[in-house]
Amino acid sequence: MHDFGYRKNSLYCEGVKLEDLAKKFATPLYVYSYHTLTGHYEKLASAFKRINPLICYSVKANSNLAILRALTARGAGLDIVSGGELFRAQKARCPACRIVYASVGKTDREIYAAIKKGILFFNVESLAELENINRISGSLRKITRVAIRINPDVEAKTHKYITTGKLTNKFGIDLKSAYRILLRRAEFSHLDICGLHIHIGSQITQSAPFVEAIKKVSRFVGELKSKGVELKYLNIGGGLGIVYDREEPQTAQIYAERIMPLLEKTGLRIIMEPGRFIAGNSGILITRVLYIKNTPKKKFIIVDGGMNDLVRPALYGAHHNILPLRAVAKKEKADVVGPICESGDFFAKERPIARVQEGDYLAVMSAGAYGFSMSSNYNSRPRPAEVMVSGKKAFLIRKREIPADLVRNELVPEGLIR
Ligand code: LLP
Repeated sequence: MHDFGYRKNSLYCEGVKLEDLAKKFATPLYVYSYHTLTGHYEKLASAFKRINPLICYSVKANSNLAILRALTARGAGLDIVSGGELFRAQKARCPACRIVYASVGKTDREIYAAIKKGILFFNVESLAELENINRISGSLRKITRVAIRINPDVEAKTHKYITTGKLTNKFGIDLKSAYRILLRRAEFSHLDICGLHIHIGSQITQSAPFVEAIKKVSRFVGELKSKGVELKYLNIGGGLGIVYDREEPQTAQIYAERIMPLLEKTGLRIIMEPGRFIAGNSGILITRVLYIKNTPKKKFIIVDGGMNDLVRPALYGAHHNILPLRAVAKKEKADVVGPICESGDFFAKERPIARVQEGDYLAVMSAGAYGFSMSSNYNSRPRPAEVMVSGKKAFLIRKREIPADLVRNELVPEGLIR
């Protein structure tokens, strides 16, 4: 369900031929579809219309300002995890009352900045952090809103690196400890503990783990109510899975049908923090074939994009479909690998890939989330440009880095070298 498809054997994004973009902007190149991006936001908003949640797009998925702005202009809020993301949120003109802030390791400086901006609330992940925010809030003579992130101890059935809701994960506070904290909430005189937060993991394709976690937390809301603890917000996190290959993830509609009745019963204002669902299938990475290398064991397609541009296959063994920009009928088993000096630098392994030639272009699909945002300069590679397509127009939304960017902050102090 996205706006990338073939027309007369050429791959298009909306009304733009991708090969034209590859030639104009060079490769590796990230290309996004405005229609897919905003369409996924709208899908969620309309599926949950009855309860009108605040949808805080998770900035970490793809933090380009144009992407943030496209969403905040539609009424989205933002889910941030650092001072840097707070800075981006402001640059994208997101009203502070639509910003929620999670992370197990917020620094004093980050906490100060977010309190001063007057964000909607912090998602607090430990007692120590709660005490620290209370202290900082007091020093600023403020009352700061916080939600307690609950670790509901449910299995999200996803990659172990992106499971966050088990008690063996570093995230959130277990129910018992949260209960104790909430009963002594009056001791935190500079805090308004007004909500609960859960986020059980990412790329979750079934509804069952969400339902289980929400049931647990709603029961908890009921228990608290009976003890006189009234809350206002329930933040259900992100985690909705998308199609990378042959997954059949729940749609926004099914997700809403399963969880909306549970959410309504809580009577709380609902916040959600989707990242991948909105950005994932709205972007691709275009890369050019540099060499074809046949070894006694394998065929390698060596491309100009690498794990520094898109790390998901190397880091999680993630599957991304790979399509030629010019359709080729025949396929052949190959590894698609980058130029980086690591054997983990691959986009596909032993997969039937279109029989491309040197100079041809390939599109690594579903690269809109956790693609550019996890990119690095490893091997001193300038990061790719990013382009947003809307209809027949293509807009540059991030310039390609140049070699000077690589050394911009480096110093060779006089007197050091002898
Ligand atoms: N809220 C919290 C508190 C989170 O930690 C995350 C993601 C989200 C929301 C958004 O989750 P989403 O809707 O995108 O699943 N780099 C990994 C994914 C890491 C997810 C981290 N937290 C990947 O490439 O698969």
